[in-house]
Amino acid sequence: MDTETIKVAINDGIAKILFNRPKKKNAMNPQLHRDITDVLERLRYDDAVRVLIVTGAGDAFSAGMDLKEFFHDLKDQPKEYDRILRLATEWRSRTLRYYPKPTIAMVNGFCFGGAFSIVESCDLAFAAREAKFGLSEINFKGFPGGSVSKSLANLFRPRDALFYAMTGRPFDGAEAERIGFVNKAFPLAELEHETMKIAAEIAGKDPVALQMTKDAYRHSLEMPLDAALNFIVAKEAEMTIKQGDAWRREGIGDFVAGEYKPGLGGRDSTRR
Ligand code: COA
Repeated sequence: MDTETIKVAINDGIAKILFNRPKKKNAMNPQLHRDITDVLERLRYDDAVRVLIVTGAGDAFSAGMDLKEFFHDLKDQPKEYDRILRLATEWRSRTLRYYPKPTIAMVNGFCFGGAFSIVESCDLAFAAREAKFGLSEINFKGFPGGSVSKSLANLFRPRDALFYAMTGRPFDGAEAERIGFVNKAFPLAELEHETMKIAAEIAGKDPVALQMTKDAYRHSLEMPLDAALNFIVAKEAEMTIKQGDAWRREGIGDFVAGEYKPGLGGRDSTRR
């Protein structure tokens, strides 16, 4: 499944998607947007994949949009510029956000500008303490365009969003954890191991229940109360059909039979 700019490794239900332009700090050029769109489409329907991890090769997660191949080289090609911008916006702000499987950003190094939207759209994010984040747009006389301002509005506290967007100051993984941009920061040497442990834990949960967890949370965020409550009832019915009622038969049934205590943990659904 590897492409020119992306490598994919699938092990034990976890797909690791690696941005693979290390010499360019994994800056997102037009080819990378095409490749990742294709990879996400294929993994979506691959039953061997239960959880996605997105990360970067070398010392960068992603240095954001490719300033040369996108902003510079396409400046006189408005149609191509628009085509790539649409692709870039779609996979980062919509495809990842509503992906039917859990997604985790593993920020191993440089993470600038447009890469903030990848981190924000993933369900979970872990960073190396040593990682370097930055909204560098203001430093090149720009502002967080594309999907980035909306990502800031979604996840950042207003003071943090405007402080980092207006100063362009870089910050590290520990600060990203403090302001809630990532769940947790680990020393770089432990990042992959710790992220894999969490991914494996989630991969052991029921995949339909995971999808419903995302759908119920993400869509109800944008709905008025009555619509959200109604939507969630419909989602429960959808889950029941897709699982063949497993949550009530096994999940609830086994608890009622005294076989386990869900409050203390679940059973590995991959073994069923
Ligand atoms: N777009 C295009 N090319 C990029 C890039 C980007 N966003 N970020 C890095 N690169 C390229 C560099 O031009 C350089 O290419 P070269 O070897 O052909 O000269 C290569 O990647 C390595 O980068 P370099 O600057 O030498 O590495 P560094 O470790 O000294 O600095 C960064 C790394 C990320 C701090 C620095 O490259 C940088 O500031 N990049 C721009 C980040 C940015 O503003 N992103 C926002 C985009 S919306």
